[in-house]
Amino acid sequence: MNAPFLRLADLELGGRRVFMRADFNVPLTETGEVADDSRIRATLPGIRDCLVRGASLAIASHLGRPTEGHLGPRDSLAPVARCLAELLGRPVPLVKNWRDRDFAPPFGQVVMLENCRGNPGEKADDPALADRLARHIDIYVNDAFGTAHRKECTLSALALAAPLACAGPLLAAELDALGRALAAPQRPLAAIVGGSKVSTKLAVLERLAEQVDLLIVGGGIANTFIAARGHDVGASLFEPELLCSARRVSERLAQRGAQLWLPTDVVCADRFGADAETRVCAIDSVPDGWMILDVGPDSRAALTPALADCGTIVWNGPLGVFELAPFAAGTRALAAAIAASPAFSIAGGGDTLAAIASFAVADDLDMISTGGGAFLEFLEGRTLPAIVALQDANRDCACATE
Ligand code: 3PG
Repeated sequence: MNAPFLRLADLELGGRRVFMRADFNVPLTETGEVADDSRIRATLPGIRDCLVRGASLAIASHLGRPTEGHLGPRDSLAPVARCLAELLGRPVPLVKNWRDRDFAPPFGQVVMLENCRGNPGEKADDPALADRLARHIDIYVNDAFGTAHRKECTLSALALAAPLACAGPLLAAELDALGRALAAPQRPLAAIVGGSKVSTKLAVLERLAEQVDLLIVGGGIANTFIAARGHDVGASLFEPELLCSARRVSERLAQRGAQLWLPTDVVCADRFGADAETRVCAIDSVPDGWMILDVGPDSRAALTPALADCGTIVWNGPLGVFELAPFAAGTRALAAAIAASPAFSIAGGGDTLAAIASFAVADDLDMISTGGGAFLEFLEGRTLPAIVALQDANRDCACATE
């Protein structure tokens, strides 16, 4: 991730046709309106910058995973264009069938291009499609960190085909923050990995075991670590086939002198539901047939001191089933402990963003990533194809920055 790339701020935009790839893959309500506009709001600085500086701006995004060439009504970005128009306070026309026409609006104006995954060749990263689109572009801008892990035409081939390609402010800020958190972190570095399954986050756990000073595990992932220590977890969600992997991660942390944080007590329930009977138990006395759904009060109290002296905190995943009120206290305490810590903090992932919103701690974190899969792949240490494309596009450009 160290090769340089151009940034929007480096470029002259007046009188240029700018194509911006955003990630407006947002949830919609049943009536088809935008249910959560955070990704759209996060992209506003780059959009406003282009317009203020007199560019002609065409914004592209995907929405869902439609069949190429067959966009249905639920695949349309029309609700996103309406939402963006409201946020910008100006018209944002939606352009359909843009693969076959000049889609650039007049200078100083903006259009939303219909779902780019409707274009045949998009998913295959087709260079012929990229060449066709590049005819109407002077500057390609990628401001879609959430989709940076995909190798698709508007993320990769088009960056290479356009005369100039750069990162938008959102993408650049996310990469800067992730680099600061993981490439050269102020230590101690703590990571929190919660969520239901070790299997979906094994690569992240293995990578972090090589890097962090403190690893806090929560949710179903913690259950597998608790079981790996030989404790009976009753009817809790856990993955017996990953006990060895959990032991390997624990051993690697111990070898490096890093700490693994597991709850010492847990909130158990006789079944999964907000009206279940609950009990606080030590981790070695979970009753037969009961399930662990949150961390207990002693563990909650230990979170603030554990994070107080950290220099950097990376957070992905909840500690319990926070969507149900009786099991929200652990994740709430974690959010408060991160907010109280002076550490540089970065959080990402769908469940994590929902927890941050429900405990209203967004203003206390240094960076909230718009990426779900992309954030995880970055944590795994994988190269993100859209970033590689930006780096390759400007290999010979002297003004590209780290
Ligand atoms: C996301 O929401 O994670 C991104 O928009 C990527 O979407 P995708 O998984 O459909 O590529």
